[in-house]
Amino acid sequence: MSEVALLQVIGLCVVGIGVAILLFIKARFLRVVGFVVIVLGIFALIALGVPQMASLPPAEEVFDVASIKTPADMAAIGQKIFFSKGQCALCHSIGPSEAARCPDLKGIGAKLTREFLYESLTQPQAYIYKDFRHEGPPKDYPARMPYINKNPIGLSNNEILSVIAFLQQMSGESITVSPSEIVQPVKTAAVMQVAHAR
Ligand code: HEC
Repeated sequence: MSEVALLQVIGLCVVGIGVAILLFIKARFLRVVGFVVIVLGIFALIALGVPQMASLPPAEEVFDVASIKTPADMAAIGQKIFFSKGQCALCHSIGPSEAARCPDLKGIGAKLTREFLYESLTQPQAYIYKDFRHEGPPKDYPARMPYINKNPIGLSNNEILSVIAFLQQMSGESITVSPSEIVQPVKTAAVMQVAHAR
């Protein structure tokens, strides 16, 4: 029996006890108690009837090196990372957005070279647009581009290359990142993943 069903049965019992008190007991104080018990029991049942939702963080993407055969496979993984672990979509939009806190990345793969993209992710402070700078007078954009290869986002090199593949693909460019650049994880990492998966 699920936890909710168990609680519902308990709630029904409580209501039942209240009804029994009202039916069989004449003492006024106990009748008031019985009435209160019924009301509380019904409230509990209604509350338990509301669908229970838990918002869990998205499951961590497992970077399955073996599944990557083509540049398009990399872009597909990069897309997932862009919207999940990489947290890029928290700040960046793809296409114009009202809530722009950061540069719109639409067409970025065509605008920037692969090397510049890589630098933007791993040394974000190396080149900063005037609009996005953090020093001096107040600016329009409060966010700062994080180091994508360091904590807390901490993407691996494989993951960064995949994100670049995605940025190029969604800009209509040919992907210049090749699956052969993906490095196989060392054994210990694989062992740890198995331990996690259990
Ligand atoms: C906390 C907000 C934030 C997050 C998260 C973030 N960025 Fe940025 N990003 C910025 C800001 C602010 C800038 C502009 C500063 C600059 O010019 O370097 C920027 C700049 C960039 C640029 C350079 C844009 C250009 O026109 O030169 C690229 C590319 C980029 N981000 C990609 C990404 C990717 C890919 C991710 C996810 C892996 C990501 N960003 C996550 C805030 C963020």
